[in-house]
Amino acid sequence: LYFQKIISSLPMGNDINFLRNVSIFEELPERDLEKIAKLGTRKKFSKGNIILMEDEIGSALFIIINGKVKVSRLDETGREAVLSILGPGEVFGEMSLLDGMKRSATCSALTDTEVLIIYRDDFLNLLHKYPQISISLLKELAQRLRKANMQIKSLSLKDAEGRVGCVLILLADELGKMYKGQVIVEEIPTQQDLANMAGTSRETVSRVMTKFEKQGLIKVEGRKLIILEYEKMKQMFK
Ligand code: CMP
Repeated sequence: LYFQKIISSLPMGNDINFLRNVSIFEELPERDLEKIAKLGTRKKFSKGNIILMEDEIGSALFIIINGKVKVSRLDETGREAVLSILGPGEVFGEMSLLDGMKRSATCSALTDTEVLIIYRDDFLNLLHKYPQISISLLKELAQRLRKANMQIKSLSLKDAEGRVGCVLILLADELGKMYKGQVIVEEIPTQQDLANMAGTSRETVSRVMTKFEKQGLIKVEGRKLIILEYEKMKQMFK
């Protein structure tokens, strides 16, 4: 009880555990993480809420502490293209801060989500002060470009089955946990979100996933996706 009292009385900014898993801060020593935690503001968003909107002027960077964030763009008829789904330790909102242009996409909470918000000037100061952060950020952006290339290839060259397969592999790489050669993704996005990632209909996603299950490639248990044959699927759909 005594320790509980001490822990609950600590200001939020002192809890820096989540920053250890943030890819762009991976090279930094503990005392610098403490400074960064103090720079930022923690904020919670409920499932479905919009965190930032396409075409707004960007003034902050967001780090996901827990939860999942959907990155998407809408067309004029309201149809949605899902560009990516990001999880704990990942960063978003960096593009506007780096190039000074408007937000390139809308980011919304796919599940209840908590983020650390760092404002533009503080973030740019961090980049100047700790060159390692810039290098880690470049690495992160290179990985994002690889994934985007995979998606472009899939959307332009593959049939619906190939596109759904590609989306499942991207999800596994982004959010999955490897366990004995299988990849488990807890709480997969809705079939409509999967369809919006694969550029197809919800019905097609449902049909293709049933086919993959019959082929023994995946297993779906409620919202949990188990990729039974990860390496094989990667070969088939990368
Ligand atoms: P920004 O343009 O400031 O606001 C929207 C954010 O969505 C953007 O920064 C990136 O952080 C993120 N984003 C945009 N496109 C992608 C993508 N293809 N993959 C992952 N994240 C993206």
